[in-house]
Amino acid sequence: MTVDWDVTAAQKDGYPHYMIKEIHEQPQAILRTITPRIKNGLPFFEDDQIPDSFFEGVTDITIIACGTAMYAGMVGKTMIQNRLQIPVTVTIASEFRYEMPILSKNSMVIAVSQSGETIDTLEALRLASKYTDRTISLVNVKGSSIARESHYALYTHAGPEIAVASTKAYTVQCATMYLLACKLGLSLGKMSEADAKEFIKTLESVPDYIEAVIAKASDVEQLTRQMINSEHTFFIGRGLDYTLTMEGALKLKEISYIHAESYAAGELKHGTIALIAEGVPVIAVATQKHVYSKTISNIREVKARGAYVILLSMDEKITDDSICDVHISLPQVPDEFAIFEAVVILQLIAYYTSVGKGLNPDQPRNLAKSVTVE
Ligand code: AGP
Repeated sequence: MTVDWDVTAAQKDGYPHYMIKEIHEQPQAILRTITPRIKNGLPFFEDDQIPDSFFEGVTDITIIACGTAMYAGMVGKTMIQNRLQIPVTVTIASEFRYEMPILSKNSMVIAVSQSGETIDTLEALRLASKYTDRTISLVNVKGSSIARESHYALYTHAGPEIAVASTKAYTVQCATMYLLACKLGLSLGKMSEADAKEFIKTLESVPDYIEAVIAKASDVEQLTRQMINSEHTFFIGRGLDYTLTMEGALKLKEISYIHAESYAAGELKHGTIALIAEGVPVIAVATQKHVYSKTISNIREVKARGAYVILLSMDEKITDDSICDVHISLPQVPDEFAIFEAVVILQLIAYYTSVGKGLNPDQPRNLAKSVTVE
């Protein structure tokens, strides 16, 4: 797949809504964002004017963001901790501002923001900058306030994101964090060059996997017909799958107005499973091999209590009907990269549910594209 650098301005180009157009733009958005930052198969940030010293000696990471950007941060946290064994904290920006920051001069602070203007994230960045000069922003708008006020800015090249519900910004934020993690791993001696090259090679294949999943859009449209009249929906998973369900729940809530909750699959039995009744949709994500069997047993628990289960996994097929009502098979990729394909299904579920309810997914009620007020 070659990189299409011609990022058109805000036009629907024949799509019915900006959101579905932006879902389809994700492969190109990721390519435009990562390609300039890979040289000889390794992460390369010199064109971003980020010196190697910025990564050297980092002891911990704090990610500050809001909404979808924060959920991208949660993916980054889980992947970085599992891969590099350094502590990563994700803090809701509006909370960070009123806590005592636990930061030192070797703390890296990553501010994630599509618009680069979210006031909660900007104020949190200002506070963090008092404790460390290792602040970096992942922003999609050049010259935005958050970019200007962070010590370094790493621009994502998703192109204009018009729909209020963020889609391509999320996937390019995750891809950029994966690149950062790889660079950090090399700088800290926690990742070999061979591992880094293999990691980057898989990251470069993500756009192709997303294309393969987008091709399932009509299957997804079908299954959302069961969800249109739901009042409540649960999204469950473990590990990276759990972090992904946070974004899936937000997408459904904000454009279909269905109450949706993301839950750690292993935590359901500690109370929330009381809410599972006949026909309640549960969207389960089970792509992480090390917790797959436990997640499947949690899914069986909700299915046995009448839930309508939609399962996303890399299994070719599921023959045991005690597990799910609908199975969406995802292409086989290394576990760390499954979030890129699974999130597209969750975006499509939210989109088709919203459209099926006769709503406008681009401009949901009560919401603005960038929250510049507190
Ligand atoms: C996501 O679909 C929402 N539009 C919202 O949660 C958004 O992600 C949040 O307001 C953060 O915006 P930012 O990325 O521009 O900072």
